[in-house]
Amino acid sequence: MDLIIRRAVLPPSAAQPNVFVDIGIEGGRIAAVEPTLAATAREEIDANGSLVTPPFVDAHFHMDATLSYGLPRVNMSGTLLEGIALWGELKPHLTQEALVARALQYCDWAVARGLLAIRTHVDVCDERLLAVEALLEVKRRVAPYMDLQLVAFPQDGLLRSADAFDNLKRAIAMGVDVVGGIPHFERTMADGAESVRLLCEFAAGKGLRVDMHCDESDDPMSRHIETLAAQTHRLGMQGRVTGSHLTSMHSMDNYYVSKLLLLMREAGVAAIANPLINITLQGRSDTYPKRRGMTRVPEMMAAGIDVAFGHDCVMDPWYSLGSGDMLEVAHMGLHVAQMTGIDAMHACFDAVTANAARILGLERYGIEPGCDANLVVLDARDAVEAIRLRAARLAVVSRGKVVSRAPAARAQLSLEGRPAEVDFKLHRG
Ligand code: FE2
Repeated sequence: MDLIIRRAVLPPSAAQPNVFVDIGIEGGRIAAVEPTLAATAREEIDANGSLVTPPFVDAHFHMDATLSYGLPRVNMSGTLLEGIALWGELKPHLTQEALVARALQYCDWAVARGLLAIRTHVDVCDERLLAVEALLEVKRRVAPYMDLQLVAFPQDGLLRSADAFDNLKRAIAMGVDVVGGIPHFERTMADGAESVRLLCEFAAGKGLRVDMHCDESDDPMSRHIETLAAQTHRLGMQGRVTGSHLTSMHSMDNYYVSKLLLLMREAGVAAIANPLINITLQGRSDTYPKRRGMTRVPEMMAAGIDVAFGHDCVMDPWYSLGSGDMLEVAHMGLHVAQMTGIDAMHACFDAVTANAARILGLERYGIEPGCDANLVVLDARDAVEAIRLRAARLAVVSRGKVVSRAPAARAQLSLEGRPAEVDFKLHRG
């Protein structure tokens, strides 16, 4: 074989503690998963009881803006609206070379974090479609090691911004994969609903997936997700449509939400929360008590709706922090949603792995014979420990090849009568 990872623990590890397996890889695919693999390989990795998972998947990102922090200035207030204004100031100065360079640098960080599939929105409200061309180039360049999926995103509003729909159609014709939208940013609720109808009909006609920024607002009356679910149902697009953010749901009336969740479930509409961004951008006009703003994640999961967590932003006009670490995203999502029960914590891990992979429609994702050999060896014994420690990615395997290695997090102590080293894991006895 090409590569064997020995003594791996697979998720969900809570169900099978201390069951080690060997993972055999050949020709870019997983060839065998067995307790003890008799085969030999050109290269072997001893996981030594560490968690080995399929790669992290970011279901919601903005790669055209990433790593632009400080260009042409920083977001002084840290608000969503100043971020949108700042992006408008930056757009005329974008160059394709700089955009490609920043995106590739981010992809390097992502690979090192075991993040091997990203759905990124790309702003199409620009006659030149410069960002679209740049990210299509990035998609080609990273294809040997990363799955990049592009969403045509009319940032300034489909109906509110001149030529936005034409630009979006041009972007799709150029090879962008998914149809985006931003109904809550249109001039009126009616325009928002109309934009959802137009975009869903366009996507249905082309056989494309839909992923809209939807109801990223504190306004409980922002109910475009209802229209999105209804259009999905009407057009027979079940399983192919996603609502991103959905923060207004946090502020909605409970009785209305009880109806809404059933509509979403019926339509097979998935949801993506963006914990780092939602907790910082929502509730900004509140005094106290201050709303958290993140959508109703555990309630949607309990209703049978697919929910993923996205990173959304890293060092851009909206968010100054981040490094492509989906465990940091899961960590924040877990806290904001108060998902501290054991099953809920595992569900937060799924929200940055398997659930996100389903939303992107990734095929052959997982650790079973026949799956693509994309894997991460984490310096953790289970998913909860991985989230708690934002565990080091000891090895990242893409298409059967080791593409990144990192040391374990350890500290050397110099204390009388105390251990010489700590690894931040709980050791008993
Ligand atoms: Fe976004």
